Amino acid sequence: MSRKHELLNLMNIDTSWMKNIPNGKMNLLSFNNLELEAKNCDACSLSNTRNNVVFGKGDQKAKVLIIGEAPGKDEDLSGEPFVGRAGKLLNEILFSMKLSRDNVYITNTVKCRPPENRNPNSDEINSCSRFLDGQISLISPSIIILLGKVAAERLMNTSEPMSFLRGKVHYYKNTDIPMLVFYHPAYLLRSPSEKSKVWDDILLMKSITHGS
Ligand code: URA
Repeated sequence: MSRKHELLNLMNIDTSWMKNIPNGKMNLLSFNNLELEAKNCDACSLSNTRNNVVFGKGDQKAKVLIIGEAPGKDEDLSGEPFVGRAGKLLNEILFSMKLSRDNVYITNTVKCRPPENRNPNSDEINSCSRFLDGQISLISPSIIILLGKVAAERLMNTSEPMSFLRGKVHYYKNTDIPMLVFYHPAYLLRSPSEKSKVWDDILLMKSITHGS
C-alpha cells in the first residue's frame, strides 16, 4: 500500500475506488476537487469576512510542505499564501535552504483570514482541518515545516512552548514523515534578534534532507 493510501486510510477515508485511476491523475483530480470545495466552504464564520480563500500554492508533488498560521490582509486580497512582508522573509529562508516557491508547497492551518489578523480559534482550525489533512495526504511530502506555534499546536496537538518544540525532529501522526518547527517569519520580523536562530533550524533541516 502506498504512503498516500496509508495516510488516507488513517483518516478513515475509503481508498478502494482509487485503484483504477493512475496515481498522478488521481492526485490532480482530488487536489482540484479539494481546492474547489475550500473555495465554496462556509463551515465557519471566517467565510463571512474573507475576500479570497487562500488554499495554498506551489508544487503539488513537493517534498517539502510548509504550513503557516493563517492568511493575513495581503494574502486575503491576493488569494496566495505568504505574499506580504513575512512572505519576503520566508523567500529568503527558502533560498538559504536552496529551495524556492516552485519546489515547495505552502499553505496554512486555516484557509481564510481571521479578522484583524487574530489567531484562528479552535473551531475555525477544526472546521478547516479536512482541507489541511487532505493536502498532506495528497502531497505526501518527505518533510513538513511548521511555521510558529499555531501550526505546531494544530499538527502536534501540543501546547508546549516554541523553545521546547524547535530544534527537534517530530513525526506526522504515526508516520515516518518528519516535522520541524521553525519560528514564524512574522515573529522574526518583530524580534530581529532571534533571526540568527533560523540558521539552526536550516541546519537541522539540511541534516534530515541530506541525500534525499
Ligand atoms: N502568515 C501566515 O501564517 N500565513 C500567511 O499566509 C501569511 C502570513
